[in-house]
Amino acid sequence: MQVAIDGPASAGKSTVAKIIAKNMGYIYLDTGAMYRACTLVAKQNHLAYDDQSGILKALNNNIISFKNINDDQRVYINDKDVSFDIRTPEITANVSQVSALSEIRKKMVEIQRKIAGENNIIMDGRDIGTTVLPNADVKIFLIASVASRAKRRYLDFKEKGINQNLTDIEKDIADRDYKDMHRQISPLRKAEDAYQVDTTDMSIDQVVNKLTQIIKKNKKNK
Ligand code: DC
Repeated sequence: MQVAIDGPASAGKSTVAKIIAKNMGYIYLDTGAMYRACTLVAKQNHLAYDDQSGILKALNNNIISFKNINDDQRVYINDKDVSFDIRTPEITANVSQVSALSEIRKKMVEIQRKIAGENNIIMDGRDIGTTVLPNADVKIFLIASVASRAKRRYLDFKEKGINQNLTDIEKDIADRDYKDMHRQISPLRKAEDAYQVDTTDMSIDQVVNKLTQIIKKNKKNK
């Protein structure tokens, strides 16, 4: 069973995908974390964020991997846990540029498809339903207003001890939406056969319930 959850930044994808994966006993894969890790590899190796061949080379010596610990997906570069480092404002501001590089995407998509081929999976990202898993059993497109997404990210950052003001977060989200939707390769868009769910006025529990219903309905129909 393959479930694709796509949508813009901070629409709640990873929060609900994690909960549903746990409830259903599926693997969860946060593909945004993979592009963030690529961006961190670029930074650690003092490479420009558009230096495709440099980043690709660096990725050969810096292996990105995941471990699920206490219901949380931790991200590693080689043996170092970088789960916190990939979410700083600097990485967030530059990840759209790195994720627009075609060869980087090719490499990540290959890994994503391999993992999906071996497991029941819920995968979240921008291009899962359109490109990575075009034959996914269920496709969901989560949206929410920029204001509500910025507020969620603000509270999330605050909890993690990252200080960034709401106006900057709103600007970052709007910028990333634009870049993710307008890049040449696999831009963010709703797959034709995806269910669109607007989470603006929904609680996490409500989104989990709605998506679980959709997934179960499609599972039964198979
Ligand atoms: O989900 P996120 O905000 O952590 O994703 C970070 C960036 O990675 C996002 O701005 C665009 C990129 N991304 C992508 O291009 N394709 C994906 N499948 C997932 C994320």
